Amino acid sequence: MKGAKITAIGAYVPARRLTNHDLEQIVDTDDEWIVQRTGIRERRISREDEYTSDLCAAAVLDLMNRYGKSVQDVDMILVATSTPDFSFPSVASILQNRLGIPATAGAIDMSAACAGFVYALHTAHAYVASGLHRKVLVVGADALSKITDYTDRSTCILFGDGAGAVLVESDAQQDSFTGFHMGSDGSGAHHVYRTNLSHKVNEVDLIDTGKLVQNGREVFRWAVRTVPQGVQQVLNNAGASMEQVDWFIPHSANLRMIEPICERMNYPFEQALYSLEYFGNTSAASIPLALDLGVREGKVVNGQQVLLYGFGAGLTHAGLLMKLALDPEVSRPAPL
Ligand code: COA
Repeated sequence: MKGAKITAIGAYVPARRLTNHDLEQIVDTDDEWIVQRTGIRERRISREDEYTSDLCAAAVLDLMNRYGKSVQDVDMILVATSTPDFSFPSVASILQNRLGIPATAGAIDMSAACAGFVYALHTAHAYVASGLHRKVLVVGADALSKITDYTDRSTCILFGDGAGAVLVESDAQQDSFTGFHMGSDGSGAHHVYRTNLSHKVNEVDLIDTGKLVQNGREVFRWAVRTVPQGVQQVLNNAGASMEQVDWFIPHSANLRMIEPICERMNYPFEQALYSLEYFGNTSAASIPLALDLGVREGKVVNGQQVLLYGFGAGLTHAGLLMKLALDPEVSRPAPL
C-alpha cells in the first residue's frame, strides 16, 4: 500500500486591502458591526486585470521558492475554484502552460465552492495513494470580489480574494492522510449561488445578476449543525479522537460560526486556525491560507495532526485528518 503526503505549501493574496472602514464609505455598515458579527477586519481585492489563474500562479511560485520545488514532474493539476477566469478552458490548463508543467500532466478544475480545496485534496490523495499519479499540484483559489455585489451589505462585508497551493507526493513509508468524510445536500442549493441565467433550483427562482446571492442565516445554521457531525465521521474513519487533533482548520466563513462549532465538539477554540481576520471569506482558498499562516508563524509543525473541514455552496462539505510532513523550507517566506 502506497501513501501520500503534503510536501510543500504556498500562498498569495492581492496587495489591495479593503478595510471595514473602506466599506463604511460604500454601504450602510460599520466596523464594530462587522467585527462583532464576523470577526473580519479587512480583505484583499484583486486588480481589475488580475484573475484566479494569476492568484494560483503566484501561490505556486511562493511554494516553489520556499521549498525549492520543481513542477517539472507534476503529473496532475487540480484547481478548486468557483470563480474560474472562464467557463472553459479551465484554470488548471492555463496554469499548466504558464508554469511550464509538461503537457503530459492532467489538468482539471473542481467545483465544490468553499469545500473545494478539501475535495481536491481528497482526490489528490486517492490518485497518489492508488499509484495512478506521483505528484499532484492542488490549488484552492477564488477571486470573489469579481462576483460580489457591493450594494448588498449582508454579503460584501464577507468576501475576499486569495490562493493557497500544496504539492501532494507519494510516500513509500506511510500515508499521512488517515481520515476522510464528505457530503453534499442539494436541497439547500438555493441558499448560496451565483447565476446569470434565469433559472430555478428546488422550485426557487434564482436572482440572475451574475453576483453572489446568499441566505446567510440558513447557511450559518446548516454549517453549525453539519460540521461537528462531519468532523466526528472523519475521526471515526481514522479511529482517532478530537484530543489527538493539534489544529482544527474549518473553512473561514465567519468567526461566529467557528466558535459554536468548536463548542459543540468540546474542542479548544485556541486550537482552531482561520484566515478570515485579514483576508475575509476567500472560499476555496480559506483553508490552505489558514494552514499556510500557521506554518509561517511556526505554530503548525511536522508530526502534528491537522483536521481540515470545508463547507459551502451545494451545500457541500468535506473533511480530512492528516499528519503534517512538509519538506524543509529552503528560504523564508515573504510576509503575506
Ligand atoms: N452592517 C450592518 N447591519 C447589517 C449588515 C451590515 N453589513 N448586514 C446585515 N445587517 C443587518 C440586517 O439588515 C439585519 O437588520 P434588521 O434586523 O433591521 O433586519 C440585522 O443586521 C441582522 O441580520 P442577520 O442577517 O440576522 O445578521 P447575522 O447575524 O445572521 O449576520 C451574516 C449575517 C451574513 C454575517 C451571517 O448570517 C453569516 O455569516 N452567515 C453565513 C454566511 C456564509 O458563511 N456564507 C458563505 C458560505 S461558505
